[in-house]
Amino acid sequence: MTSLDQRDEIKNRIREAADIVQVIGECVELKKAGTRFSGLCPFHAEKTPSFSVNPQGQFFHCFGCGESGDVFSFMMKYHHLTFPDALKDLARRYNVDLPERKMSDADRARMQKREQLYLVNQSASEIFQKYLLTADDARGARKYLAKRGVPDELVTRYQLGYTPGPEIGGWKFITSRLQAKKISTIAIEQAGLAVKKESGGYYDRFRDRVLFPIFDMSGRAVAFGGRIMGEGKPKYMNSPESMIFDKSRLLFGLYQHRDAIRKSRRAIVVEGNFDLLLLAVHGINNVVAPLGTALTRSHIKSLRGYCDEVVLLFDGDSAGLKAARRSIPFFLAEQVEGKVALLPKGHDPDSLVREKGAAAILDLVERAKPLPEFVFAALVEEHGLTLSGKSQIIQELSVLVQEASDPAQKDLMVAHFSEKLGISPARFVTGGERSFSPESRVEQVTERSFQQLPRKQRQVVDFLILYPEFLQELQDGGLGDVVTEPVVQELIDSLEKLRASGSFLPEQLLSQLSGGSERQYVADLLMRGSVGEDDEETRGRELCDELLSWLKSALGQRNGANLQKRILEAQQAGDSQRVGRLLQEKMKVIRKNRGV
Ligand code: UTP
Ligand code: MN
Repeated sequence: MTSLDQRDEIKNRIREAADIVQVIGECVELKKAGTRFSGLCPFHAEKTPSFSVNPQGQFFHCFGCGESGDVFSFMMKYHHLTFPDALKDLARRYNVDLPERKMSDADRARMQKREQLYLVNQSASEIFQKYLLTADDARGARKYLAKRGVPDELVTRYQLGYTPGPEIGGWKFITSRLQAKKISTIAIEQAGLAVKKESGGYYDRFRDRVLFPIFDMSGRAVAFGGRIMGEGKPKYMNSPESMIFDKSRLLFGLYQHRDAIRKSRRAIVVEGNFDLLLLAVHGINNVVAPLGTALTRSHIKSLRGYCDEVVLLFDGDSAGLKAARRSIPFFLAEQVEGKVALLPKGHDPDSLVREKGAAAILDLVERAKPLPEFVFAALVEEHGLTLSGKSQIIQELSVLVQEASDPAQKDLMVAHFSEKLGISPARFVTGGERSFSPESRVEQVTERSFQQLPRKQRQVVDFLILYPEFLQELQDGGLGDVVTEPVVQELIDSLEKLRASGSFLPEQLLSQLSGGSERQYVADLLMRGSVGEDDEETRGRELCDELLSWLKSALGQRNGANLQKRILEAQQAGDSQRVGRLLQEKMKVIRKNRGV
């Protein structure tokens, strides 16, 4: 039996053993209604029950928010578990034996590496914190925090720390202490805490800085942000990304604030670490801060499990606010309501809450405007509603519409904005998936370089450049349907040409690509990428599998969104038979997607 069959079999055994009504009934008050059970949906705020559990089909569905799934997806969504953890949890409760998972050597090595990185960060965090709280040489740091209004109690709650400057051993403060704990220098370097010198040897990345550990959702420290005290550049220094730290996914404060966010069904996003701390001092705890980056779709996805609404609390000319426009499609795609609350001029949340107290913040948040409306109002203010103003607005909105990741979202945005403008939806340029034409102005604005691609697509690009032999496999896996950026198409065309000519040297790509910045990108990557990976072939295989499963889930999501649209239509048409049929279909898609 292959391991996939085995996994399916275990899933089925657990699904049969687990009673979905009992599992959900522990979290949601359910009433019997005919052959089903119904209650208030735990995934969106509602007053009349539209959440229904079907024991025969072993699935749940909410007619209000469209959330549906089986007993595994309920556990994952409600308790924020990964699929394997949901599986384990249910297996334990319903006494289903799980076979020991067989790991390949590569899997095991990777797992050990990750464990090591967790250990480095966790140990470092403890050392930094103890130093901040007790060392004589940390007196200045304690004073700094006190002056900024951060009490000791918060130091403990957020496990803040401090690392001394060079004059008191700061070049080797953390490195030597971790080494003394028998942690390998290579692991310390890979975790980003030590930097290798050209001349050999290592020095500490963070010196004389107040440290904010970043936690993942299991409460493990995975990185640090370090603020210099007083003036100096850079103001913040952050751990580099690593196997366990993905900046575009984690948010400062989410781990500590998850319950407050869940209770209020709302997350407030601020820009700075100190904004978050000062709001916490004033009792506002449903707050997160991205780590100096614009809000990504993954950020919104991580928040989605905890709340229905995300309020961006920004000042009028912050970079974050400008970037927020681009996040509209992500909010739509994740079905989370995005809102904007503008701070009074010259204030950030830190200064406002210190000056005017929590009420002033809460008042702003209550009056926050929905993000699309906010952007729309800003555009109207900028361009006016004259004929030419309108066409300017359409053009800018078209850019946003184009960035929506799937067709259903595009339709939603077009419907929304065209109604607002009182124009026909046809006036939005929504095509351009494949029919890219260089003449079109709007499309030219959105054409991206490799550098500007979303993370996962850039990973595809990097992979294809370094491992072109996997091109066909990715194409068979749906690459062309998922990634439609012109710049990637060009890369694929070039690779195909090379393949047809019977030669596959990545270096030859350089002569094929038309854009200068693309050539530079490829050159840089080849320089970096070709140095001494010990097992190139396995690595390529692994990456390819990872990308194939991403393609599969992207395709699945697209189908899911389509189905969702058809379910809504059937619901509106009052065709309950069709709704039932489509729901069954959706369940199949969900199960299939998870089989990855
Ligand atoms: P801010 O400059 O608003 O930071 O940058 P802050 O935390 O409010 O700091 P104070 O109040 O001036 O002390 C917002 C966030 O952007 C990231 C940090 O995460 C910071 O909290 N950032 C900022 C960096 O990563 N690097 C920088 O050089 C500056
Ligand atoms: Mn600040």
